[in-house]
Amino acid sequence: MIVLVDKVGRRHRVRLKAGDRHSIHSGFIAHDDLIGRPEGVVVTTQMGARLLAVRPTFAEQVTGRRRQTQPIYPKDLGAILVGADIHPGARVLEAGTGTGALTLAALRAVGQDGVVVSYEVREEFLEASRRGILETLGSIPSNLELKLGDVYLGVEERGFDRVLLDLAEPWQAVPAAKEALRPGGIVFAHCPNVSQVQRFFDCLREVKGFGMLEAYEVLQRGWTVRGRSMRPSHRMVAHTGFLCFARRLAEDELFEPEGEGFR
Ligand SMILES: C[S@@+](CC[C@H](N)C(=O)[O-])C[C@H]1O[C@@H](n2cnc3c(N)ncnc32)[C@H](O)[C@@H]1O
Repeated sequence: MIVLVDKVGRRHRVRLKAGDRHSIHSGFIAHDDLIGRPEGVVVTTQMGARLLAVRPTFAEQVTGRRRQTQPIYPKDLGAILVGADIHPGARVLEAGTGTGALTLAALRAVGQDGVVVSYEVREEFLEASRRGILETLGSIPSNLELKLGDVYLGVEERGFDRVLLDLAEPWQAVPAAKEALRPGGIVFAHCPNVSQVQRFFDCLREVKGFGMLEAYEVLQRGWTVRGRSMRPSHRMVAHTGFLCFARRLAEDELFEPEGEGFR
């Protein structure tokens, strides 16, 4: 799988196959002209348009696919991995799988010694995510378990280090997260609306056994860097979701520092 970048920055995903050719509005390129060439080569269509050929980055892989549900944006994926401290060897429980974007990000972060178990309630989404992961990694890794199931009804996993929630009513998954997490573990929820943040945090307080509740959003403003023109881009993704985190406590109590703390 490669990405061809045209002169206006459009990206075309292409699976190279001997004998095939890829057509764009400014001509076509024969796959044979690319196979065996170094990554980063610039090729020219028969109509003279120049195209850069590179392998897709992780962000391009997870966002460039056709999909049935909204994946987490790359800007948020990075912040979630650090915010939830997804470390090599971690045991991570996720719901719902969706497109598998966060699943893939978590898999990279936990490495071969870690485990990712991902619940998805809709069979067609689970199968689509399986195909996406297969396309990205070439196989389904042995440390990934894709499970068909409703996380609101509970999970069988215990002693997990992290729980990642990206579904409409994360508060309904709080009992499952509480059962699955080891003391000191971290629960994360991606909430597009602030009403979800409030309900999720209210529920954490209600069930007790959680502390250090915090939420933030990530604003990423691109800049145009072209010759002497250096300025913020005209457009940006203004809002994706609030990133909400809390720590699982050893006892059924609450711990919420009054101040904002220093980071
Ligand atoms: C916004 S998508 C998740 C996107 C995913 N994080 C990604 O990066 O592609 C929400 C997913 O949660 C699933 N879902 C909703 N309720 C669920 C539940 N109770 N248990 C498991 N999965 C659920 C939905 O079917 C949907 O696929």
